[in-house]
Amino acid sequence: MSLNKQNIDWDQLGFSVFPTRSMWKATCESGGGWSGGELVPYGNIEMSPAAGVLHYGQGVFEGLKAYHTAKDRIVLFRPDMNGQRIQDSCRRLCMPEMTTEYFMDAVKKVVGDNMDYVPPYKKGGLYVRPVVWGTGPTIGVAPADSYTFLIFTAPVGPYFRGGIKPLNLIASETYHRAAPKGIGNVKAIGNYSASLEPVMKAKADGFHEVLYLRADDERYVDEVGSANIFMRKGNKLVTPRLSGSILPGITRNSILHLAAHQLGLDVEEGDLLLEDIFKADEAFCAGTAVVVTPIGQITFQNETHQIGDGNMGEAATELRQTLVGIQREEIDDPYGWIHPV
Ligand code: PLP
Ligand code: COI
Repeated sequence: MSLNKQNIDWDQLGFSVFPTRSMWKATCESGGGWSGGELVPYGNIEMSPAAGVLHYGQGVFEGLKAYHTAKDRIVLFRPDMNGQRIQDSCRRLCMPEMTTEYFMDAVKKVVGDNMDYVPPYKKGGLYVRPVVWGTGPTIGVAPADSYTFLIFTAPVGPYFRGGIKPLNLIASETYHRAAPKGIGNVKAIGNYSASLEPVMKAKADGFHEVLYLRADDERYVDEVGSANIFMRKGNKLVTPRLSGSILPGITRNSILHLAAHQLGLDVEEGDLLLEDIFKADEAFCAGTAVVVTPIGQITFQNETHQIGDGNMGEAATELRQTLVGIQREEIDDPYGWIHPV
């Protein structure tokens, strides 16, 4: 690729805000449809102090990555899935839905204009963060009358400091991430404000992240604050079924597919007991930001359980290699998951 890269120390990137050249901005009235929009310089925006998103959390977001690949192309991984999920999220929060085509076109325009910020091959990815907010003023609890769709980007490296070292999790007895019939199954901003106190307390106690139990029966596992969870016992790979409070992760869906079709594992979406994970051969979490990261130990009721031998297991290793191999175009993509920009 003839394109010059920005002068960035790519090896030092973590997962943080990093201003780039431009972002996408579009607006839409309640009852209207999404069309138009434009690239604008990356920067602060203005909105009413009564904007619905600021008072009643009428906002959703997405997260996906653009990669510089072995074929010297810039590609996106399954952006159509993010386009479908943002429609589900918008519908749940009474916001106008956009078509997948409109979503993907806007994502491609932003990535196309910020190509020089995409980390070089093997150096991470350009994280793409679309958001939809109720920006019309509202004081009674009601949907806003106008909406803003923004997409900005940031070059990122590993989500957890220290790269892919096994995680030390705390299974929370004190907090739930989401209620069974609430908004946990969409990417609503309120789910993440609810997770701030639990994760800050977990970090202060020396844990990387919180593992949430299902709110309707605290014996079953839901997910990690920023990713879905898997465990392997023998040839069986299990992840919690989409109970209603779990975010349907695109990485989760991809891992289920790769595990069944490329690794020959028996995959199951079921009710996953915390005590089964303690006895697993391995466990890992999966998501856009965390990719595939092994879980080394889980603490519950003041007891610490080592998972497997505490290291990255064979399924996590192979699944990570296969997933990242497809994303970097090092191995074939038989599923049409890769979308060149
Ligand atoms: N679960 C939660 C709560 C998340 O925030 C994420 C990240 O988006 C995931 C799971 C994984 O989803 P995906 O693989 O689509 O990134
Ligand atoms: C992602 O993986 O894209 C996420 O959204 C996780 C977290 C950064 C919120």
